[in-house]
Amino acid sequence: MSARLAGKVAIVTGAASGIGQASARLFAEEGAQVLAVDRPESAIATANQGVPAIVPLGIDITGDDAPAKIVAAALERFGHLDIVFNNAGVSGRAFAEEMTDEHWDRVNNVNVRAVFRISRAAIPALKERARVTGRGRIVNTASVMAFDTDFGLSAYCASKAGVGGLTRTLALELGKFGITANYICPGAIYTGMTRNGFDDPEIRAVWEKKAALRRLGQPIDIARGALMLASDDADFITGHELVVDGGLTLRT
Ligand SMILES: NC(=O)c1ccc[n+]([C@@H]2O[C@H](COP(=O)([O-])OP(=O)(O)OC[C@H]3O[C@@H](n4cnc5c(N)ncnc54)[C@H](O)[C@@H]3O)[C@@H](O)[C@H]2O)c1
Repeated sequence: MSARLAGKVAIVTGAASGIGQASARLFAEEGAQVLAVDRPESAIATANQGVPAIVPLGIDITGDDAPAKIVAAALERFGHLDIVFNNAGVSGRAFAEEMTDEHWDRVNNVNVRAVFRISRAAIPALKERARVTGRGRIVNTASVMAFDTDFGLSAYCASKAGVGGLTRTLALELGKFGITANYICPGAIYTGMTRNGFDDPEIRAVWEKKAALRRLGQPIDIARGALMLASDDADFITGHELVVDGGLTLRT
């Protein structure tokens, strides 16, 4: 068995479902110890049961003290921190004319503000670890909606474009410490977020046909991208936007 994350400690947010759950499991399979973070009301307590290397933490990442608590939990449990995978996210559609402040704030708080705040809280621990190992990793989940759009997605698209700008700046600021920061842009992936839509055969067929590879993505497809960026193989990759969409966005 390969172990591309042997000896590493990772925080993965949104780990009760979809991309985060698949990533927590793949990281653990590859030798990492994982703090699996998700909302207390989610299935986080049971979602990764049976995998001893995955420790759950039920917390809302938008809480004022959530970033400090998350980083402290990883350090208390595992002693150091190598990888932060900021993946938790929410969507929602409303035309801009009708979009409420609450909608805008909820989407942007989870998708970009919490990513900034958790990254900021993790930097001291990542730097400390990088002084020993020579490297640290931030991987963030954006979306193809960071550069494309659709009706009703002004808040979501703004939040995901924000993840891009935030991540590139983190990459610039943290490079001299050996810490990389990259972001993934998933295409149409079958997860808790999209299941309702993609369980409709007509909607599913439309999205399958749009992708060059003629299928929806599965959470593991994105987890593999995150693993690559989190691993030592990505030592010289930073500030990069990794599109993992099966060719969904190739043509106009
Ligand atoms: N599914 C897709 O097609 C797709 C496409 C592009 C980008 N993404 C992004 O992928 C990421 C993962 O989403 P997914 O598709 O796996 O969806 P998902 O709904 O299956 O998983 C997202 C998880 O994030 C958690 N979460 C939401 N708000 C939270 C909060 N405040 N605190 C803690 N946890 C919270 C949810 O409880 C959920 O378990 C998101 O950032 C999403 O925007 C998904």
